[in-house]
Amino acid sequence: MSILQGLIETAARFMPDKERDPLLDRDGFLGHPLHRVDGRSKVKGEARFTAEFEVPDVAHAALVFSTIAKGRVSKIDTVRARNAGGVLEVFTHQNMPRMKAPPLVDITDLKKGMAASDLPILQDASVHWDGQPVAVVVAETLEQAEHAASLVEVEYKIDAAAVSFDAIKPQAFVPSDVMGEPAVIEIGSMEKGMQEADVRVDRVYLTPRYNHNAIEPHATVAFWNDGRLTVLESTQSVYTTARSLALIFKLDPEHVQVVAPFVGGGFGGKGGLWNHTALCAAVAKALQRPVKLSLSREGVYRVVGGRTAAEQRIALGASRDGRLTALLHTGLTATTEHGRYAEQCTFPTRHLYASPNIFIEQKVINLHTVANTWMRAPGESIGTFALESALDELASALRMDPIQLRRVNEPVKDPIKNTPFSSRLLTEAYRQGAEKFAWNARRPEPRSQRDGRWLVGQGVATAYYPFFRFPVKARVIVFADGRAVVQTPAAEMGMGTATVQIQHAADRLGIPLEQVSFHYGDSHLADTPVMAGGSNQTASIFAAVQAAVEDVHRQLLALARKDPASPLTAAKYEEIEARNAGLYRLGANGPGEAYSDILRKAKLDFVESETESGPPMELMKYSMASYGAQFCEVRVNEETGEVRVSRWLCSLDCGSVVNPKTAISQLRGGIIMGIGMALTEETLFDDRRGRIMNPSLAEYHIPVNLDVPDIEVHFLNIPDAHAPYGARGIGEIGITGAAAAIANAVYHATGKRVRELPITLDKLM
Ligand code: MOS
Repeated sequence: MSILQGLIETAARFMPDKERDPLLDRDGFLGHPLHRVDGRSKVKGEARFTAEFEVPDVAHAALVFSTIAKGRVSKIDTVRARNAGGVLEVFTHQNMPRMKAPPLVDITDLKKGMAASDLPILQDASVHWDGQPVAVVVAETLEQAEHAASLVEVEYKIDAAAVSFDAIKPQAFVPSDVMGEPAVIEIGSMEKGMQEADVRVDRVYLTPRYNHNAIEPHATVAFWNDGRLTVLESTQSVYTTARSLALIFKLDPEHVQVVAPFVGGGFGGKGGLWNHTALCAAVAKALQRPVKLSLSREGVYRVVGGRTAAEQRIALGASRDGRLTALLHTGLTATTEHGRYAEQCTFPTRHLYASPNIFIEQKVINLHTVANTWMRAPGESIGTFALESALDELASALRMDPIQLRRVNEPVKDPIKNTPFSSRLLTEAYRQGAEKFAWNARRPEPRSQRDGRWLVGQGVATAYYPFFRFPVKARVIVFADGRAVVQTPAAEMGMGTATVQIQHAADRLGIPLEQVSFHYGDSHLADTPVMAGGSNQTASIFAAVQAAVEDVHRQLLALARKDPASPLTAAKYEEIEARNAGLYRLGANGPGEAYSDILRKAKLDFVESETESGPPMELMKYSMASYGAQFCEVRVNEETGEVRVSRWLCSLDCGSVVNPKTAISQLRGGIIMGIGMALTEETLFDDRRGRIMNPSLAEYHIPVNLDVPDIEVHFLNIPDAHAPYGARGIGEIGITGAAAAIANAVYHATGKRVRELPITLDKLM
């Protein structure tokens, strides 16, 4: 199919531009701030995102959203919609093609597929949340589809719905697990630990619902050919999306191809499959035409879940010297019966501080809402707000420097798992950060610094995000003409995936960057569940590429050894290294042969290997995470309560930095999201009806340029010997600790402790 071919061509074949980037000439490509290989195509508008593909004969779909939280569609009148101009069909539960239930996410078995909810939608008259699609209108143009959708008339039989977090709290229960970890952990005795304490802090911290607002709203284009389904999708996970669709439509997985050349941000909201994708594929099948379904901003709020509201309690007991005698963190979050996701808000507390007595417990409530889901550092972002605010409260109560408090409670091994840390330089991150931020210039007493009407304060908080690596496959091909290609079904959401993967492969193969291509964003590239989530993707692919390159090198060496005249003829694998686009004996002047010479002599055009990395045994042996210290300064207007963030420094221990340019960008993005979480963002939710009331960027306030100061990012850049190339994840840690650093700075500026996000003017008046 030519359309698909053209699309895959555009998808990933971007090469670095040597003329524009002098760094390309340098040896050792890793660690250099290489420009994004797709940067120019994005700036010039050549990079195409899902909804931008011009698919011949495409029809456009629009959704009709339920306006009740629970009940049934008792009557649905589609006559006016059907008669509207350009309408091809109106699908309701009465004529929607049959689909199987989506496979609910299970991160231990991604081959099943990965959906955020296992509800089959539009298969009967039932309504499960306010915003659920109750009809899909397909027309010749988007405008015709949207107009016709507004003409569909729906009547409901309304059932009582559980939509109020507060009202349903008495029904909270302990889930069977939290992301595969125990929901309850008890070490020692809290009662004893609290009795032994000289100083105690016991507080409740509240965070609201947050919604996803990637710059590119979710979009799908689906077409069928000969019983095979092809889907262009804005997703973090082409492979699991394909698997999910295969299951829903009872297809051989080989007969589903999902393609995502570029993704305009995901943050967890494009991880699991959401209903609109399956609905688009279903109506395309029924009409035997390509169909495009591009969600409006409101559509994203209605059918894609966000971060749950949470109520967390932190109780700390400490002796006079600051050492914790007791550490309690309990959390209550909301989920749904069809999503069953307990956001892991207590996870940071499981690994950050030493205490002889620890109690951790998570509970959930089930609401009738759209399924909640991952959102950048799910768990850790809100968990660190509670924990790191409480640490600051304890430091105040002890009259101790908050950095010193963290230093005295630094554990020597993982407090829960009892395993050693692979590498943990949090104390050093604080030390270097404090120096750069001039922390010691701060006057410790709250409300002691002012600049006219502006009260000035500085705060710190710990950033933490665990290391994940999944066993995945990558294919490495080395061609006789000097080129190399790496293929794996990865996602590029703007992080710099292709850029760092090219740097890594070029380094391992010892060939120039501009000779390497990275092919990604296509579920057919390899049968392996690569996905961009949990800050895993770089490390996971690195490990697979490392294994595949080793296999390619062994094959090349075997070929070279067949030639008795080759300088490699008696060489063992352990005695060679890759450089100058070939294999050479170790040492600066070691003799060897170029890959192209070896291949030409063997009369081969290329050599290739598709290899799977081993399971993450390092995670069994070690406690592995990235750590950081967030330093921020705020200015609070004494009369209006307006909060401006005026300075920011993040000092980070994330192992090696593969590309400082794209890495800094990841951190800045995370911190900006943290500023939004702390100060402006909040999903306004009608607790009586279960409806989101601000589904637009006009009323859901994400930070804009004026809300964001210069953000300085400092990397310790010390490799973790147990991570591929020494690099741990960086995609999510930026948001962690950010809200607490702001809340702590606001306290320092004003003397007011705000324990409920967002910190709006009214809470400071
Ligand atoms: Mo992330 S919330 O795992 O995309």
